[in-house]
Amino acid sequence: MADQVKNAIKYAHDHHEDFLNDYKEILSIPSISTDPTKKEDIRRAAEWIAAQLRSLGMKNVQVYPTGGHPVVYGESLEAKGAPTLLLYGHYDVQPVDPLNLWKSDPFQPTIQGENLYARGASDMKGQDLVALKAVESLVKTGDLPVNIKWLFEGEEEIGSPHLGEFITAHKDMLKSDYAVNPDSGLIGVDYPTITFALRGLAYFELRVYGPAQDLHSGIFGGAVKNPANALAELIAGMHDEQGCVTLPGFYDKVRKMSAEERAEIDRIPYNEKRYMEQIGVPALFGEAGFTTMEREGVRPTLDVNGMLSGFTGEGSKTIIPAWAMAKISCRLVPDQDPKEVHQQLLRYLEEHAPKSIRWELDELAGGPASISDRGSKVVQAMSKAFETVWGTRPYFKREGGSIPVVAQMQKLLGLESVITGFGLPDDNVHSPNEKQHLPTWTRGIDVYIHFLMNAGK
Ligand code: BES
Ligand code: MN
Repeated sequence: MADQVKNAIKYAHDHHEDFLNDYKEILSIPSISTDPTKKEDIRRAAEWIAAQLRSLGMKNVQVYPTGGHPVVYGESLEAKGAPTLLLYGHYDVQPVDPLNLWKSDPFQPTIQGENLYARGASDMKGQDLVALKAVESLVKTGDLPVNIKWLFEGEEEIGSPHLGEFITAHKDMLKSDYAVNPDSGLIGVDYPTITFALRGLAYFELRVYGPAQDLHSGIFGGAVKNPANALAELIAGMHDEQGCVTLPGFYDKVRKMSAEERAEIDRIPYNEKRYMEQIGVPALFGEAGFTTMEREGVRPTLDVNGMLSGFTGEGSKTIIPAWAMAKISCRLVPDQDPKEVHQQLLRYLEEHAPKSIRWELDELAGGPASISDRGSKVVQAMSKAFETVWGTRPYFKREGGSIPVVAQMQKLLGLESVITGFGLPDDNVHSPNEKQHLPTWTRGIDVYIHFLMNAGK
């Protein structure tokens, strides 16, 4: 046993360069799931993953078409009597714009100091590779201590719209004891972290229409409602002065935090000055009565993700725009329901939109929040692996981001997930200049090797 871990860790360290080359290869495929022109790249990324699985000796490797981007599956079920882990990953990434702010091409992985820069380096191709390379290290030096079923999707960054359907249709194939989800990160380089809760998401596009076409703002200005003004007023009304969301019933199902939960969150090392510097804001803002860690982990939000209207080119053009549009998303916490939040936003608009405009609301993506069992065998196995590699017990964190599959697996397969990845808060995920800290990535592979061994015991 002890020898097997040692050999696997040695293999991982000896093959660092090879691992890095594979990592760069997958990063160079622009698999942006929301971009309809990238369908072929998405398919290439799926095939790349399938080829990796085959090279690890996985059986029944297949790229499954879905209503959207493909799912990749593969398995190794030879560890008799050992638990079966469903290892999840997503091979899609977020868009890269604004492209001009990138210091290197987002799809030409570039090493600067200790970091590897590319879209998806941290979220989550780097984490996919952590799991794949840990398994490779074990497979090439002995027998796998656990049974593994791999499930990779290409639609996580658009809310996993077809994954529930796929899981439902392949329940027997996916039957496992636990799910393992590396789509996450650490609080800091020196703070090993296990994520045990995620916020949900409800994402909308709101369009406001005024005149049939743009109008001269001198001739008509003052006599018609400007849709850009109307949209701004509607958005402004979605919060009160306390920073609370005003959609009717928005907080009705939000669970009250226990004193214990608050204490747990307040244990997270947090430095306000560093936090502000890292994101570059002059002051923090949020819902009254809650700390920053509570605001970003356990409280629901409503945010504009993008707005568009009228003339936005250089110089000036005097018009009343014909329309205005905003992308609006809510981060949800247990037990909020994305469908109900949709209804709440509809009601808000019905009550507040002026008669002088028309509006339309589309629901783009969504999924509920999730909380995972912190006492499960896999969480203990991961915790022990962190103690071995980092030398300290991990923190347990409620993450503000969303991973819809975690709730889907709980609901459809009855599976608890251990959520552990090796991103860092300053990785610029979803932003220009996304990166992965390579020493943390390498340590992550060691953690996963130990984790898989622990889980097999
Ligand atoms: N990996 C992230 C979620 C995450 C972010 C976990 C930070 C831990 C730390 C994931 O890929 C993601 O960004 N998800 C989207 C999901 C959405 C489109 C449904 C998100 O949170 O915006
Ligand atoms: Mn991700």
